[in-house]
Amino acid sequence: MSIQMSGTKPKAVTGSLISFENVSKTFELADRSVAAVENVSLNIKRGEFVVLVGPSGCGKSTLLNMTAGLFLPTSGRVFYDGTLVTGYNLKTGYMTQNDHLLPWRDVVGNISTPLEIRGMARGERHDRVAHLIELVGLVGFEKSYPSQLSGGMRKRTALARLLAYDPETLLLDEPFAALDAQLRLNMQIELLRISRSLNKTILFVTHDLDEAVALSDRAVVFTARPGRIRQISDTPLPRQRDLAGLRRDPAYTRMTAELWDLIMPTLNETRGEAS
Ligand SMILES: Nc1ncnc2c1ncn2[C@@H]1O[C@H](COP(=O)(O)OP(=O)(O)O)[C@@H](O)[C@H]1O
Ligand SMILES: [Mg+2]
Repeated sequence: MSIQMSGTKPKAVTGSLISFENVSKTFELADRSVAAVENVSLNIKRGEFVVLVGPSGCGKSTLLNMTAGLFLPTSGRVFYDGTLVTGYNLKTGYMTQNDHLLPWRDVVGNISTPLEIRGMARGERHDRVAHLIELVGLVGFEKSYPSQLSGGMRKRTALARLLAYDPETLLLDEPFAALDAQLRLNMQIELLRISRSLNKTILFVTHDLDEAVALSDRAVVFTARPGRIRQISDTPLPRQRDLAGLRRDPAYTRMTAELWDLIMPTLNETRGEAS
């Protein structure tokens, strides 16, 4: 299933690849409803790196899920490249905190899984996997199994497998949260390099405000549940940036502090749960 058109003629938002138009989502549970997000309107341009931040439970993953077409808004509309999203959006690829590598397959086997499923010929698959292994810096580890890899290498393998699909948009849900600071920095550097060189559009969720500023072109700050957009900040850093040296950049420090001031008071709030 790919993106499907609904009966109503979709309206393209000029210049936007992903558009949330007044999107709300409420989950109906057996004993209560949970309003996850409310009236979210956001336009994301092709090639943009947009980071979503906000307190736990404010609906960040829900917004990624609706972009992927895994579930639909309760009200409002999500458009992808001018088309209403009403089913699985095959232009997107998803990566979460859990890398879900297959323990019985080595690095090459894990990365080539999606290509095998797609029915790609062995020769072409071999070339593509070799290219991806080079891209993510895993040369020399082709025959290693997940249990023999460090956390950072597992992430690289998962990233290469995601890129094997060649999705236009990457939906990354706290992908580096489990890594220690040094590995996380390495992965951030690699992700920025790769996303720029492949001109990917990225929707990235994180709890980490330093990471939000370091990676983003724009950061979208949400209120506590139900998540509404509190602020959208343009990140005042050049696209080519030295992630290792950011702590000495006053523009970086200022924006990080500004996001902290916005988010701190909301960390203990939860609203919108009606019994
Ligand atoms: N499939 C689901 N069924 C029921 N409730 C859900 C589902 N997905 C998310 N929720 C609820 O919606 C709210 C927002 O969840 P989520 O999008 O995961 O938040 P975040 O990613 O910002 O932490 C939470 O209260 C969560 O429990
Ligand atoms: Mg989440």
